[in-house]
Amino acid sequence: MKSDVQVMRHPLVDCHLTALRDETTSGAGFRQAVKMLSTLLAYEATANLKTTIRPVKTPITTCDGHDLNRRVGLVPILRAGVAMVEPMLDLIPTSEVWHLGMYRDEATATPVHYYSKLPPNKPVEVAFVLDPMLATGGSALMAIDAIREWGVTEIKMLSIIASPEGIERLQNERPEVQVHTCVIDQSLNEDHFIVPGLGDAGDRIFNTTG
Ligand code: PRP
Repeated sequence: MKSDVQVMRHPLVDCHLTALRDETTSGAGFRQAVKMLSTLLAYEATANLKTTIRPVKTPITTCDGHDLNRRVGLVPILRAGVAMVEPMLDLIPTSEVWHLGMYRDEATATPVHYYSKLPPNKPVEVAFVLDPMLATGGSALMAIDAIREWGVTEIKMLSIIASPEGIERLQNERPEVQVHTCVIDQSLNEDHFIVPGLGDAGDRIFNTTG
């Protein structure tokens, strides 16, 4: 079995992605585009969240209202995933945010896990891993394993841009994880960067390029 991969298809996604790709886009413009795309991704990725019904009194009458009935965790991978937190929290204000810190070793492109805020117990019921980039997939796999170890059984991966290699690796190695992305690009280059890609999301979000 391979995991389910959902790729967004929408003209507004294409336009905001173009802003991310464009090397002349400012840090502010880049962050704004990440925010928009994260909101659209979140809309798709949360489509099967269950709600409970409660009566609500409107100024006119009463009707059925809805409340989320599951504990939702957002797990951003530092640094770039941080930019996806606020739009998700806007949509699900009761979400818990648990940070994981990882960076790719430049020589080997393997992830280095340097920080975890995951608690030892009381796992959330559904976790959304947030990282704009899925390149080799190493960081995502490491994050998913840490969340599974915490005890979470339902995990969804939200990336804005992915490589075919990273998608295939996730599908083969973590088939139970549903993946949502805005686009799957052509390939990785010899430096393990996504082509055509958008450069390094963390650097562009935090103005640390160069
Ligand atoms: C980037 C990106 C992902 C990771 C993807 O982070 O934000 O976390 O690389 O690559 P992978 O799929 O090959 O693991 P980076 O290492 O640049 O860290 P940063 O966000 O702190 O800049």
